[in-house]
Amino acid sequence: MTKESDSPNAQIVAQEIESLAINEDHSETHDQKITPWEVEGAVVDGAQVAIDYTKLIQYFGTKEIDNELLTRFEKVTGEKPHMFMRRGIFFSHRDLHNILDRFEQKKPFYLYTGRGPSKGHMHLGHMLPFVFCKWLQDVFDVPLVIQLTDDEKFLFKNGLSLEDAYKFSLSTVREIAALGFKPEKTFIFSDLDYVGGPFYKNIIKISRSITGSTAKAVFGFTDTDCVGKVFYPCIQIAPAFSSSFPELFGGRKDIPCLIPCGIDQDPYFRLTRDISVKLGHPKPALIHSKFLPALQGSKSKMSSSLENTAIFTSDTQAQIKNKINRHAFSGGADTLELHRLHGGNPDIDVPYQYMEYFVDDDAFLKNLYDGYKRGEITTGEMKQHCIKVIQEFLAEFQKNENSVTEEDVKKFMDKSYPRHFPLFEKK
Ligand code: TRP
Repeated sequence: MTKESDSPNAQIVAQEIESLAINEDHSETHDQKITPWEVEGAVVDGAQVAIDYTKLIQYFGTKEIDNELLTRFEKVTGEKPHMFMRRGIFFSHRDLHNILDRFEQKKPFYLYTGRGPSKGHMHLGHMLPFVFCKWLQDVFDVPLVIQLTDDEKFLFKNGLSLEDAYKFSLSTVREIAALGFKPEKTFIFSDLDYVGGPFYKNIIKISRSITGSTAKAVFGFTDTDCVGKVFYPCIQIAPAFSSSFPELFGGRKDIPCLIPCGIDQDPYFRLTRDISVKLGHPKPALIHSKFLPALQGSKSKMSSSLENTAIFTSDTQAQIKNKINRHAFSGGADTLELHRLHGGNPDIDVPYQYMEYFVDDDAFLKNLYDGYKRGEITTGEMKQHCIKVIQEFLAEFQKNENSVTEEDVKKFMDKSYPRHFPLFEKK
């Protein structure tokens, strides 16, 4: 590690991961567990509590997105910060100021994000980073590269075939396309397809600068994990270096990126920032999101494998309604009388929380929030609002997804598709 390493003391992380792995007794107390593979709030005397994001900022050593940064964002871009930023959903960052500096100076940068493609459709939690990326790309008008880590899925999911993993990549492109991205601005690649050439050269250089003990410390790998897993981080790191994409950046090595991602992905990019210094690339900047709470509440996140924790992009209007009515955790009082008397708690009310992700109108939300607290808005009414908002979002999404053609998918995945960016031409 370099002196200015972003990584917390590697040994402590390793010990912590180990002790968490052993501590499966839920009658005990243990700390929250946020890794790229597991997200779980702390357990206090056997009871699970909500994820503490302030603690994560301290633990990971990132910076909070504070009002000063929001003000600067607006000043530099001329755009009101996205509701995800205003509401602390994208709550943490590394070096976002550097990106704003570059935008001010009309110097190029790009956006990088990714997704491990999985069977079936994405759930709403998977969509959020892409919704945000679409907005950032509109604001900055810069290239976006999206890595589909079918290789990662193959390595980490026993029983999954390579063929299926690749098929999931193709259906993921359709879903991403449905959010309105343009192939002239966006390159989406499957690792299984794209690894080779300059991208592979970067992977190999990266792999020589990560020791087995660093990989173990940062990611908690053990000796029984296959070697593919231990190697995989090199593949997720490589897209952070502009020379991995000669078709986009003409072989330039000096163009930094901004990576929007869930906070659970930070370990990869902490490591990336250490390595970039060694290999002579600029450090990537990051902007981190919280997790979309499960229907059951903010102690856990939506999970594809637990059907009733999540709303999927393929859910019908009736399914959306049923899931919210039956499963969404309510912050309302036990009876209508008590609710009218004492009011409800919007801060733990899942239907209210979901609307924070989908309703841009701050005044409308504030009315709901205040009305709920005063008991004027009932739990049923809150759910109705939420159902309507999500039904509308997904109806639009599904219509768009149906109109994505095979031809469109090919364009996004074609590394030589003509793409052009004003910011790059001025340089
Ligand atoms: N590992 C991520 C996942 O499982 C996928 C990913 C690859 C990613 N590159 C990324 C996510 C960059 C955010 C940013 O979904």
